Amino acid sequence: MVRFSNNIIGLLNFATFVLSIPILGGGIWLATKADSDCEKFLQWPVIAIGAFLMIVSLVGFVGACCRVKWLLWFYVAVMFILIVLLFCFTVFAFVVTNKGAGETVSGKGYKEYKLGDYSNWLQKRVEKSSNWNKIKSCLQDAKVCKSLADDSVNEVAEQFYKKNLSPIQSGCCKPPTSCGFVYVNATYWTSTASNSTDMECSKWSNEQDELCYNCNSCKAGVLANLKHDWRKIGVINIVMLIALVVVYSVGCCAFRNIRRDERNGYKYNTYP
Ligand SMILES: *[C@@H]1O[C@H](CO)[C@@H](O)[C@H](O)[C@H]1NC(C)=O
Ligand SMILES: *[C@@H]1O[C@H](CO)[C@@H](O)[C@H](O)[C@H]1NC(C)=O
Repeated sequence: MVRFSNNIIGLLNFATFVLSIPILGGGIWLATKADSDCEKFLQWPVIAIGAFLMIVSLVGFVGACCRVKWLLWFYVAVMFILIVLLFCFTVFAFVVTNKGAGETVSGKGYKEYKLGDYSNWLQKRVEKSSNWNKIKSCLQDAKVCKSLADDSVNEVAEQFYKKNLSPIQSGCCKPPTSCGFVYVNATYWTSTASNSTDMECSKWSNEQDELCYNCNSCKAGVLANLKHDWRKIGVINIVMLIALVVVYSVGCCAFRNIRRDERNGYKYNTYP
């Protein structure tokens, strides 16, 4: 049993160490290649996750294989903190993404999204202009609106209105229906003088890399998308939590075994 739990921790950490190499490499690659704000925004989290995984794996691996008590203690403590943080994050994200839904628009196949429907915390995050500029850059990189324009070529208004648009396409690529703009094509609308008093409507631009990216409807669309994705992220988090609890238990076991054997006067430097 003594060696069993140590071997498991050793093997597991070897696996996560190997996994951390491409993650860290990918982060560094992004850092050297990144030219848009979107990629720059991603590089630090990826590098941080890769480096963290690499250090923790090394600590766990050396701790378990060489039976270094303080390293194993450190490893178990980090696991415990990770479990608590991941649990809090999961609960917090569920609470924060609970509010808000798309609104159906009469005669339209798509829904529209209002920023005010989402939780205050999320609203504040997307309203902060430094955050929003990065998200906007990611939307432009992803060519969300370009793909909408490409598959709506030659469509007349009636055909376009029947489309089922994603929240981001609905919020960012076209002006809100309440503005009463006149459809020319999916990403080109002409405004009528009476309607330009609404702040939201004046944010619309026919410039193909501006469109409604500054509209509140676009921020709401991003939040609607986040809410939708959260279901999947939540499931991944719960699986990760279970895995971490198992690793933590085995780690505790390995740690306790070393202490017990130490009390029994067993010397570890003879370990093969
Ligand atoms: C949409 O209409 C504008 C103005 O007529 C035109 O410049 C643009 O190329 C059109 N876009 C597409 C995808 O057809
Ligand atoms: C915008 O104009 C359309 C008609 O052109 C009208 O039906 C609509 O109520 C107007 N909306 C606003 C917010 O003024």
